Amino acid sequence: MTGRVRIREILAKESAGGEITAKGWIRTVRVGKNVTFLALNDGSCMANLQVVVEPSVPNYEEVCGLGTGSAVAVRGLLKVSPAAGQKYEMHAIELSIIGQSDESYPLQKKRHSFEYLRTIAHLRPRTNTFGAVYRLRSSLAQAIHRFFGERGFLYVHTPIITANDCEGAGEMFRVTTLDLESPPRNDGHVDYSADFFGQTTGLTVSGQLEGELFALAFSDIYTFGPTFRAENSNTARHVAEFWMIEPEMAFADLIADAELAEDFFKYLCRHALEHCREDLGFFNEHVDKGLLARLESIADASFAVMDYTEAVERLKKAPVNFQYPAEWGLDLQTEHERYLTENVVGGPVFVINYPRDIKAFYMRQNDDGRTVAAMDMLVPKVGEIIGGSQREERLDLLQRRMVEMGVRPDGLWWYLDSRRWGSCSHAGFGLGFERMIMYLTGMENIRDVIPFPRTPGHAEF
Ligand code: 4AD
Ligand code: MG
Repeated sequence: MTGRVRIREILAKESAGGEITAKGWIRTVRVGKNVTFLALNDGSCMANLQVVVEPSVPNYEEVCGLGTGSAVAVRGLLKVSPAAGQKYEMHAIELSIIGQSDESYPLQKKRHSFEYLRTIAHLRPRTNTFGAVYRLRSSLAQAIHRFFGERGFLYVHTPIITANDCEGAGEMFRVTTLDLESPPRNDGHVDYSADFFGQTTGLTVSGQLEGELFALAFSDIYTFGPTFRAENSNTARHVAEFWMIEPEMAFADLIADAELAEDFFKYLCRHALEHCREDLGFFNEHVDKGLLARLESIADASFAVMDYTEAVERLKKAPVNFQYPAEWGLDLQTEHERYLTENVVGGPVFVINYPRDIKAFYMRQNDDGRTVAAMDMLVPKVGEIIGGSQREERLDLLQRRMVEMGVRPDGLWWYLDSRRWGSCSHAGFGLGFERMIMYLTGMENIRDVIPFPRTPGHAEF
């Protein structure tokens, strides 16, 4: 059967009538007395196409015995459906069975827990929830490129294998071709000069440092790529491999950075509301009842800005028993972040000017001598979704800070060069793509918004 039409297009047709071919996977089979109904899904949308099969179809008996999950092609007539909840149904003329499925197929009718579905991540794309998650994720990725494209930002592909640990947190995965059983040695130590790149390398934790070099040539740039962190934290918000969007703007300060972040965030919320309506409707009904209202309220909201120092004061006065202390000089924990955005502000908030000792070496030092021009954007239900800063563009201050923080300048001579010739104020941020998808879907575990999550002990699919 040729000329196959996607179910999304079939259901969006202006009118019924005419012969059409659909291909997809059977979600349910209901065998009646003289008619059998198939619910067909091809992933193009949430809705199934109802296929009405009558005994006049040559292989009727065989069709009645089809199992959930079977792949079929159907040619038939599109008619207005008398049933509620669907516009059209297809009356089969010919049905060919492409791939059988039987009762051992794990996705039979009943609802499965997200925990169980994680153990069959190779099959979960065929469920309603994960169909919606991955359609939204794909649409959002394209919206991100459109946002920056419309604003004249250059898209740069920063390297995945790198020798620098941008965030300085020591969370890099090592990349090596050395024989781990018997590596070459020099004076008792492993001789990394014999490794593939002639030095130690790892998978990138951020494209920022290379992004800065491009911002100092193209003014406004962004990266959008995979990021790797060997953080041994088993939380609902961390994965070892995630995708990050990192814009960087020359001639910009922290305020301009926060403005871009706010515009970007609102744009993505609007995009989802306009282009992913069917899937959002599903999440709103089955995952998070307040989702649509929350996303709609974002459009006109003006995001709050709060100094870190004030945030700590508010946390100290909070009538809540936090698990971790809130003290000036300590990093904010998820429970603190969520309290600030959910209870103090009731919406997105930028916390700015963090103590310099808890932030990375590249952030611009404020005149008070103890804080840096950092910003974290916090949102309800997720906590930190964006981390960014104005960068230290003054060579001497940057060098001093690196020494203080134990960052070896010889590995970053090229980064320091950018402050030697034509340095200028610049700023940027990183948005965690998966955390954005969590926010837009209401899904509460990051493992359920990425196709194949990598977490400590898990990389099987
Ligand atoms: O705050 P982070 O570490 O900032 C940076 O990497 C900067 N270089 C960004 C920049 O200024 N260009 O990470 C940015 C965001 C976080 O706010 C969070 O949304 C996400 O990346 N993120 C993670 N997402 C999932 N799993 C993890 N382990 C994550 N670590 C960070
Ligand atoms: Mg951060």
